[in-house]
Amino acid sequence: MVRGHRRDDCLRYVDWIPPMSDIKRNYTREELDRMSDDELARLGTELDDVTVAYRKERFPLANDPAEKRASRRVATLFALSVVLGLAFVAVYLFWPWEYKHLGEDGLWFHTLYTPLLGVTSGLSIMFLGMGAIAYTKNFVPEEISVQTRHDGPSDEVDSRTLVALLNDSWKTSTLGRRPVIQGLAGAGAVLAGLAVVLPLGGIVKNPWKAKAMGIQGDGTLWTTGWTLHEQGEKVYLGRDTGAIAEEHDGHYTTQGVSRLVRLRPEDLDAGSMETVFPMTEEMVNDGDKFDAKRDVYEEHMHSIHGPRNAVMLIRLRHQDALKAIPREGQEDFHYGDYYAYSKICTHIGCPTSLYEQQTNRILCPCHQSQFDALRHGKPVFGPAARALPELPISVDEEGYMIAKGNFIEPVGPAFWERRS
Ligand code: FES
Repeated sequence: MVRGHRRDDCLRYVDWIPPMSDIKRNYTREELDRMSDDELARLGTELDDVTVAYRKERFPLANDPAEKRASRRVATLFALSVVLGLAFVAVYLFWPWEYKHLGEDGLWFHTLYTPLLGVTSGLSIMFLGMGAIAYTKNFVPEEISVQTRHDGPSDEVDSRTLVALLNDSWKTSTLGRRPVIQGLAGAGAVLAGLAVVLPLGGIVKNPWKAKAMGIQGDGTLWTTGWTLHEQGEKVYLGRDTGAIAEEHDGHYTTQGVSRLVRLRPEDLDAGSMETVFPMTEEMVNDGDKFDAKRDVYEEHMHSIHGPRNAVMLIRLRHQDALKAIPREGQEDFHYGDYYAYSKICTHIGCPTSLYEQQTNRILCPCHQSQFDALRHGKPVFGPAARALPELPISVDEEGYMIAKGNFIEPVGPAFWERRS
């Protein structure tokens, strides 16, 4: 193996390798104990069939001003790595990262969060690498070595001489007498490592920690926006109009147009499906309660973004509805020909978006699970093993569709605490 020069040069130095037969290979423990580190290092290179053909110290003279300049350059690179590593940690811990919607105060700072994490961690690692390269070029001796390859296991003399060689590398690198560079390089390496490890902290959460109950549930896996019904709230089935937010007085809202609106049974054709979201009374801004100046956009979007909120409201064709077989204990969950099933697939949580009118099957496009809408959302094909939870529904005195209870089981995929 040849390091540090072209093949032509290598050939020129091959003559310098002592013949292998001249090298003594067997040493007693006492003989090895009597040898100095330098002697062991030299012996190690020879036993490894390596000849150091050329070695030159970078700064052979003590107190060379050029060495001090080089030392400052390297220290500056490691210091920049440390500063940027610290900047990364500071951004990760203290920069405002919570969601801001368009037009909200602080949006600009919020949008800088991810780019700043990338820039600070990237530059920290880059300066650490540049420092290591600069150190090698400036302080590790120039060396040309030639090695002949050979096979076979290592014996004791090899392992002892290897340690000596590593000691020799440490000494000749002069890193041992440069504590500032040592400290900066070490700190830079630790901080660059943190830039990789720290973001994993974002996925460490306590799954049992409940917040206040809201339109997305309380943050635990067994609650949804529909759980508000258990707290005495009237919860409507809100239909998503898809209204796009626009700027009103420097603030992005759908003011004047409601994003979620209440739904009446006659809004749905027989054999069709509509995705609905929970909507409490104070979120209503339609029909006789419509106020063009009221702004409920944010509440509506929170309901739509609730990870377990989406429900498929299906109006079966009447002749099909006559064949429906309800699950025991859920006989009165439907309202006439209308059935409401959680849209969150019980396999691994994709939205089961497709309803096939002819077969009354609900299809999850992720892994092709199929559920039978006539048999309480029971899985009939694919990897899903649980039925889609059914939401009990009814119609209020004004003719709007409402939830008349909460799901009686958690929605979505399996997890440890789930009993159903
Ligand atoms: S997530 Fe629905 S089939 Fe896999």
